[in-house]
Amino acid sequence: MSDNIKGKVVVITGASSGLGAATARLLSAQGAVIVLGARRADRIQSLADELTAKGGRALAVTTDVTRFDQVKNLVDAAVRKFGRIDVMINNAGLMPHSPLERLKIEDWDRTIDVNIKGVLYGIAAALPHMKQQKAGHIINVSSVAGHKVTPAGAVYAATKHAVRALSEGLRQEIKPYNLRTTIISPGAVATELPDSVTEPDVADRIRKFYTEVAIPADSFARAVAFAISQPEDVDINEILFRPTRQDL
Ligand SMILES: NC(=O)c1ccc[n+]([C@@H]2O[C@H](COP(=O)([O-])OP(=O)(O)OC[C@H]3O[C@@H](n4cnc5c(N)ncnc54)[C@H](OP(=O)(O)O)[C@@H]3O)[C@@H](O)[C@H]2O)c1
Repeated sequence: MSDNIKGKVVVITGASSGLGAATARLLSAQGAVIVLGARRADRIQSLADELTAKGGRALAVTTDVTRFDQVKNLVDAAVRKFGRIDVMINNAGLMPHSPLERLKIEDWDRTIDVNIKGVLYGIAAALPHMKQQKAGHIINVSSVAGHKVTPAGAVYAATKHAVRALSEGLRQEIKPYNLRTTIISPGAVATELPDSVTEPDVADRIRKFYTEVAIPADSFARAVAFAISQPEDVDINEILFRPTRQDL
């Protein structure tokens, strides 16, 4: 599987925990060069050190995806240090579920800023390099919530539907540049994501649900590796996966 992974320069946002960190570990073990972005500098630096100690090549760049200048700096740092960017994984996200009637305006703003604008900024930062290379792969992380809306999940679902719409539009537009696009939509995966819920009753319900059904983060990492490892003329556009136990 690692044939088309070895040596690729892969930039991952939200690499300080959960799905991003698991993906960094798997792809590094398969020979990819990993560039880690997130706000928690200590976390991504220690992950970069861990990957390097195991014989990999990695770089940590502190990044807030709500700031385009910082996302551009992340991608440009990858290109400066490693000469190119082969894969951009727009993974950073949060899920502060709450019923709309609670009017959690700040949560709505943050969710839209990170989950939608962060993805757009990732596209904007990577696309000029990939167009020039006439090669590259943009992977955007949506969710089961990009396919289904649930009570208390309207804003999150709206952002994840938006990620799928943006990705499909991007897929159609970038044909002239020989670029690939993949949407990955996970179900419940055990990460720190439930910690982003700010309403205590909703957080309790989600933590209970995750405790019952969530699967390990390497499930996501394997889906990423599958998409990247295909021959360059094969474009895996969308992957939706869930824990076998999850009905939602
Ligand atoms: N776990 C699931 O069940 C599940 C299911 C479907 C979809 N997803 C999606 O998967 C993605 C990854 O989430 P996860 O489950 O791995 O959760 P997680 O463990 O909470 O990780 C979220 C990551 O996003 C980063 N992040 C948050 N705000 C950021 C910002 N402003 N700038 C840069 N990075 C930021 C965090 O890093 P810092 O705090 O260090 O910045 C962290 O690395 C999200 O898009 C999420 O919606 C997860």
